[in-house]
Amino acid sequence: MCGIIGIASNKSVTSNIINSLKKLEYRGYDSAGIATIVNGNIDEKKCTGRVDNLEKILFKNPSKGLLGIGHVRWATHGIPSQVNAHPHSSEEVSVVHNGIIENSNELKKKLEQSGYKFKSQTDTEVITFLLTDFLKEFDLVEAINKTLKTLNGSFALGILFKKYDNIVVGARRGSPLAVGYGPQENYLGSDSYALKSMTNKITYLEDGEVCIISNNKVDFYNSKNIKINKKILTLSNDKYTAEKGDYKDFMSKEINEQNITAKNCVKEYVDQLRKDINLYNFPIQPKDIQKIILIGCGTAYHSCITAKYWFEELTNIPIEIDIASEFRYRKIKLSKKNLYIFVSQSGETADTFAALDLCKKNKVKTCSVVNAVESSIARSSDFVLPIHAGPEIGVASTKAFIGQMLVLYILAIKISQIRKEISETEYEKKIIDLKKLPDLIKKTLNYCQNNIPTIAKDFLKAKGSMFLGRGLSFPIALEGALKLKELSYLHAEGYPAGEMKHGPLALIEEGLPVVILAPKDRYFEKTISNMQEVIARGGKVILITNETKKIISENIRFTLEMPESNENLTPFLMTIPLQLLAYHVALLKNCDIDKPRNLAKSVTVE
Ligand code: M6R
Repeated sequence: MCGIIGIASNKSVTSNIINSLKKLEYRGYDSAGIATIVNGNIDEKKCTGRVDNLEKILFKNPSKGLLGIGHVRWATHGIPSQVNAHPHSSEEVSVVHNGIIENSNELKKKLEQSGYKFKSQTDTEVITFLLTDFLKEFDLVEAINKTLKTLNGSFALGILFKKYDNIVVGARRGSPLAVGYGPQENYLGSDSYALKSMTNKITYLEDGEVCIISNNKVDFYNSKNIKINKKILTLSNDKYTAEKGDYKDFMSKEINEQNITAKNCVKEYVDQLRKDINLYNFPIQPKDIQKIILIGCGTAYHSCITAKYWFEELTNIPIEIDIASEFRYRKIKLSKKNLYIFVSQSGETADTFAALDLCKKNKVKTCSVVNAVESSIARSSDFVLPIHAGPEIGVASTKAFIGQMLVLYILAIKISQIRKEISETEYEKKIIDLKKLPDLIKKTLNYCQNNIPTIAKDFLKAKGSMFLGRGLSFPIALEGALKLKELSYLHAEGYPAGEMKHGPLALIEEGLPVVILAPKDRYFEKTISNMQEVIARGGKVILITNETKKIISENIRFTLEMPESNENLTPFLMTIPLQLLAYHVALLKNCDIDKPRNLAKSVTVE
C-alpha cells in the first residue's frame, strides 16, 4: 500500500506535499516522511503516526526546497517506526516506495558486502543503495534502468538526486503512479486524487515506464529506455466532493449518502423513458457467454457472492466466484468462451489486478466493475462498468459495496433479457423496482439511525458475535461481520444460517449477540428455525426482517423492521443496519473510524 508524492516547482513544495500526503493517508498511516533538496543537500524528515505529526515537525523546523518527495507508509518490511519510515536516503539519493521488493534480502547481502550500511529493516533501502552504486559508473537514465532491472517485485517510486537537483524521477512496475501538470510545476502521485487540488491534467504511467519531472517539463521513457510521448488526460471535476461536510467522519457521510449512490447508479444505467437498461456498447454478446467468473477481494468479493445468486436466478449461465488472491495462483484453464468480471472499488488492488493480468495474458474476455474509472484495473480490462459512487475515503467500504452490488444486479437483469431468460414484462417490472431502491435505502437509513446506537451497546462486553443469513442474506452476513471486525477490532463471524449445526453452534452461549438476517424470502421459515436454536442456547438475537407478522418469539432482544421490498433488493437494505452497527460499536469504543488499525484503503501489495 503506501502513498507517494513528488513535486518539482519554482517555489517551496513542502506545504503542497503535506496537503497531498493528507489525501493519501487512506493508503497507509503508520508513519510519514518528506525529503527535499536544501542548499544542494538532501533534507529528510520523518515521523511515526499521521501526517499531522510530520506537519508539526516541519512547522518547528521548515524545509524550503523547490523539489521534494513524500510518503505515507503501511508497513510491510519492518515495524512502523521513524527509522523504517520513508524516504530512505543516502548522501546521493532519496527514495519513496510503494510495493514490495521480493529479492531485497539477497540484494541487501550483496550491498552490505560492498560496504553499504543499512539503517532500516525495509526492502526499500536496497533501492537507495543500488541507485547510489550505479550512479558512480553510469549516467542518470542508465543508473535508473540498471536499478529497476535488478529489482524483483512491485514498485511505484519517487526519487530525488543530490547531483540532479532540479528533477524528481518516477518509475512503476505493478503499483500505480500518476503524473500531473501544473503552472510552473509538475507532480508525481500514487493517484490523481492526491494531485486533485493542484491539477486535473494527468498522465498514467504504465508498467516498466519511467518519468523525469522538472518544474517545466516531463520526459517519459519505456522499459527499453526509449523516450516516448504519452497522452495527457483532463479529468472531469467530480460531482461529488471528497470533503466530510457536516459529518463527523467520512464513513458516516458515505453510509448516509447511499440513497444518492443508488440513485446516480440507476440513473446512469436505466433509460427512464424506455424502461430499458443501457450497457453502452457492452462488447460481449451475452448469448455467447458460456460461464461468468466473478473475482474480487474483501467487501468487493462479498458483492460477487451476492451476484452469484442473482445471475443464477435470472440467467442460465453457470457462475463461479473467486477471491482474487486465490484465483491468481490456481491452476485453471481460462476459456475464451467465459467472461471474467473483476470487482474493485479502488481499481488498484494488487491481487485483483494480478488476476486480471493473468486473464489478459490468456486473451480471455474481461470486464471490470470499479469506482475509480482511471484506475489500473479499469484501464486494463476490455470493458468497464463504473459504479458512479464518487470518492470513497473511509477505509471500510460502504457505499461502494452498494454500488458494486447494484451494477452486478443491473448486469444480471440485462443479460437475462438479452438471452430471453425473463419475459419483457418481468424485465420492466425489475426496472420499475430498481427505481424504487434509492427511496427504500433512504427509508432504511432514517429508521436505523434511532435504533442502532442502543443495539451497539450489547456488542461491547461480548466475547464476540455472529451474523447469520441464508441465500442472498448470506454474503450480507459475511459483510456485516467484516465491517464489525475491521472497525471495532471485535471478533465476529459471518455464516450461512444452515451451517450452524455443523460446528459454529458450539460458540453460542448466554449473552452472545447473534444478528439474524431473515427477509421475507424462500428461506424465511428455515432461518427462523435457526434463530430459535440460537435463542434456546442463550444467544442474544438481533433480528432484521421485513416479515414481522410471522415472528412468534418473545425472546428476541431487538427486532429491526425493514421496509417491504422485492426479494432481490433485500441485500441492499439488510446491509445498512449492519454498516451502522459496526460504525456505532466502533464509536463507543473510540476507534479511529475512517482509518482502522493495520488497514489501508487501497491494497496495492500482495
Ligand atoms: O478497492 P477494492 O474494492 O479492490 O478493495 C478490496 C478490499 O480490500 C476492500 O473491500 C476491503 O475489504 C475493505 N476494507 C472492506 O471494508
